[in-house]
Amino acid sequence: MKFYIDTANVDEIREAAGLGLLDGVTTNPSLMAREAGRGKTFHQILAEICELVDGPISAEAVSMDFGGLMKEGRELVSIHKNIVVKVPITIDGLKAVKALKEEGIRTNVTLVFSPMQALLAAKAGAFLLSPFVGRLDDVSHNGMETVAQIVQIYRNYNFDTQVLVASVRHPIHVLEAATMGADVVTMPFKVISQLVKHPLTDVGIERFLKDWEKVKK
Ligand code: G3P
Repeated sequence: MKFYIDTANVDEIREAAGLGLLDGVTTNPSLMAREAGRGKTFHQILAEICELVDGPISAEAVSMDFGGLMKEGRELVSIHKNIVVKVPITIDGLKAVKALKEEGIRTNVTLVFSPMQALLAAKAGAFLLSPFVGRLDDVSHNGMETVAQIVQIYRNYNFDTQVLVASVRHPIHVLEAATMGADVVTMPFKVISQLVKHPLTDVGIERFLKDWEKVKK
């Protein structure tokens, strides 16, 4: 399973990349807005991220019409070859996914909340598909059940589109994604840190270090 980090913060990306676990990055307009005070443009931040991680870097297009999505998509990939254009699941979005693919531009279909949206995105030729599990959980709909249905549908028809579990809030989302065979999970830095931790590891280290003091060296 591939690990992406879900942030536009270059310090967090640098630290996560240092762990050697990072396969890519996802950003969105809200994550970009958090970096607005640092004096860098959207394009500068993306270029910096592409230098830090050699893998797919998702950057979101914000146009709502086909022409605007095409223009934005072409501009975004001109920043770096690793950019994947995030496109919301709409009628114009689907048209853009197909047309961008014909130009060799990869897309990440985002704001996906149902298996049928996922089926349409795969048929249009999306490279990545982002179901938002945390936001589904927030409205009392089990987000990971939706992911399981999507994974099953993609397997049934051998779609190439990769399922990228997004809006991840805690390690159980990651565990379930791995169990059901999702291709990618994108996580905030906090969740990556939580995956490392176990209280019994901390207790074990403390006990070993204490006992080591008694050993004749
Ligand atoms: O990048 C998209 C997604 O991961 C957003 O997560 O926490 O805003 O629902 P969240």
